[in-house]
Amino acid sequence: MRVRRRGLVMLAAFVSALACAPADEPPPTGSSSRLSNETSTAQAGAPGIGDPDFPQDGNGGYDVSHYDLVIDYTPTTKRLEGVTTIKAGATQDLSSFNLDLAGLGVRQVTVGGSPATFTRQGDELTVRPASKIRTGSTFTVRVAYSGVPKPAKDSANLGTYGFIATADGAFVASEPNGSKTWFPGNDHPADKATFDFAITVPAGVVALANGEQTGQPTTVGGKTTYRWRERHPMATYLATATMGKFETRSGSTPAGIPNFAAADPKFKSSLDGLYTTSGEITDYWSQVFGPYPFSSTGGMVDDYSAGYALENQTKPLYGGFDPDESIIAHELAHQWFGNSLSIKRWKDLWLNEGFATYAEWLWSEHKGSKTAEAFFNEYRQRPADDAIWKYPPGRAKPNDLFNQSVYTRGGMTLHALRQAIGDATFFSLLKTWTAQHRYGHVTTESFVDLAERLSGKQLDALFDAWLFQPRRPA
Ligand code: ARG
Ligand code: ZN
Repeated sequence: MRVRRRGLVMLAAFVSALACAPADEPPPTGSSSRLSNETSTAQAGAPGIGDPDFPQDGNGGYDVSHYDLVIDYTPTTKRLEGVTTIKAGATQDLSSFNLDLAGLGVRQVTVGGSPATFTRQGDELTVRPASKIRTGSTFTVRVAYSGVPKPAKDSANLGTYGFIATADGAFVASEPNGSKTWFPGNDHPADKATFDFAITVPAGVVALANGEQTGQPTTVGGKTTYRWRERHPMATYLATATMGKFETRSGSTPAGIPNFAAADPKFKSSLDGLYTTSGEITDYWSQVFGPYPFSSTGGMVDDYSAGYALENQTKPLYGGFDPDESIIAHELAHQWFGNSLSIKRWKDLWLNEGFATYAEWLWSEHKGSKTAEAFFNEYRQRPADDAIWKYPPGRAKPNDLFNQSVYTRGGMTLHALRQAIGDATFFSLLKTWTAQHRYGHVTTESFVDLAERLSGKQLDALFDAWLFQPRRPA
């Protein structure tokens, strides 16, 4: 069993049976009343983006197009000084709007260059610009903040995530909603944006983020600034600013995609394997899933025992273990399934994890080891009272998001589909799926629709049995 699995299973053992508080649907975004006596609260952006299972995550009333993150981090004091500049478009008239931010002190907020007032409540930062923002207009909000970031660890089965200080820097893996532990934003995958990073660290420390470096790092007064740019839309949970001592290797994959790998000195011996395997797998997935969606690939191994890996865009992060081919195949498959194609609601998480798990089986099959069919048959034999059959993977539970069923039964769903529609249609479906929704958003319904259209088959019963029933499919 692989490290990530072990971690997830181990964590799952501590799942508390906490029921989530009944969620009030936040008011729909994008609508605004036009009454002349409307109150200013009627034009407040909603505090949540509209995910019924995570009512406070993300925000309503605007769409972010770009984040500019300027960060100065000191590992010895664990203090972060940040300035986040967000470019957004208003989807309603806004007298105020929210950003997600957990802890940290806010010093100043400006909108369009003018000082704005702000209030904090829980993880919501409410910004009231000096003048109302009109629907359809674009605006810039700049937040200056600082403090010692505290990672999220409130829910037992998610473990610790977000900005996690390490001895020499930080391990930054924010799925599902931990980006608010280190920068203010619209922290939900339904709102993706491009990112620029300028990360300043003490000289000798390396700062790694998504995408590619824009120029050489510059050192002034004992501090080095690293600049990275992710030029393709990215969900906030996939953003990283992982820092510390790192050995790095860069070049390109055999097919010519820029490839960058990094390993903490403790995992120095993993560096070449990570680099080579990531290159080989990125090229293979480009054949199977369609063109690689981003400008570079690679990975990082940090000395922090997270118990999981995260598919950070262009740079998956492996938490304190030497990644084997199977987990690298998994995290790189996410670059298509999860990163280029993002979910709109967390309950559709099987569209990420089921596909990435199925990719592990496809990689094994490709290497002449166990076939996907053999994986499927083995799991299929689990007794009828096995937990995997009780948890319908098509509706990931907010208090048990990363349940093994979402991974394994999600992967099995794809194999059952492959058996029903045949290899030719199945593999062309995967490519059509990634092409049609490249850099966009997907739902389970849109996948079922496409599968039915391409196969000409009625597949409701198959998907219902595999994704939505609390029992082993017949
Ligand atoms: N998406 C990751 C993977 O499948 C798992 C992330 C788990 N996140 C967490 N907070 N435990 O590799
Ligand atoms: Zn995964």
